[in-house]
Amino acid sequence: MALSKPAAAFSPAQKILHWTVVVLLILQEFVFDGGMGRYFHAYADGKTGAWTTTSIAHLLIGTVILLLAIWRVALRATHGAPAAPDDEPALFSMLAKVTHGLLYLLLFALPLTGLISWFGKYDPLTDVHKLLSDALLVLAGLHVAAVAVHHLVWRTNLLGRMI
Ligand code: HEM
Ligand code: HEM
Repeated sequence: MALSKPAAAFSPAQKILHWTVVVLLILQEFVFDGGMGRYFHAYADGKTGAWTTTSIAHLLIGTVILLLAIWRVALRATHGAPAAPDDEPALFSMLAKVTHGLLYLLLFALPLTGLISWFGKYDPLTDVHKLLSDALLVLAGLHVAAVAVHHLVWRTNLLGRMI
């Protein structure tokens, strides 16, 4: 399949995009998150107070994340990604593939559910959006833990592949 094309290494653009998106996700999850429910209801009910620094930043950063996700998937398809490290247990490689796939999926699903619920003034989708945001935190936690196991226990230079 095109998305599993082997490459000798991640390209500089893939590395920069990975870390840029990590920073944007931290801003989105921990800095520009508070009060979003309140601002959404103000907007959906046609009241004042919907457009604040937080809501504007949340919308803009989320949209940038969506555009960068499209770029990342395009690069993944054209450039590919390096094969799993030698000696990595097969189950671990399989879990890594699934986790990476789900993380890519969330980079689309989060902004899309956010944008559709906001501009569609559709409250039920905001609950899905919040669930997806929790799922992202869990998966990113697993992802970082897996990188830590590679680096500290197995002493493969996995982190170096993304730097
Ligand atoms: C990757 C992109 C995004 C991430 C990681 C993200 C993350 C979050 C987080 C952490 C919250 C707070 C959840 C809570 O209070 O428990 C939230 C709420 C919300 N976000 Fe996003 N968001 C993203 C994109 C967007 C976009 C583009 C919009 C469009 C305006 C949006 C609209 C909303 C709305 C309306 C809420 C309020 C939900 C509620 O409390 O009822 N989000 N988002
Ligand atoms: C401090 C936090 C993070 C660290 C240390 C880290 C580290 C890494 C490393 C070393 C790789 C390369 C794995 C390999 O060579 O097979 C990687 C890949 C990846 N990371 Fe992260 N990451 C972090 C956060 C995140 C977050 C928050 C996301 C959420 C989107 C993410 C999404 C991905 C994806 C999708 C890949 C697979 C790239 C591909 O194969 O196309 N990472 N990460």
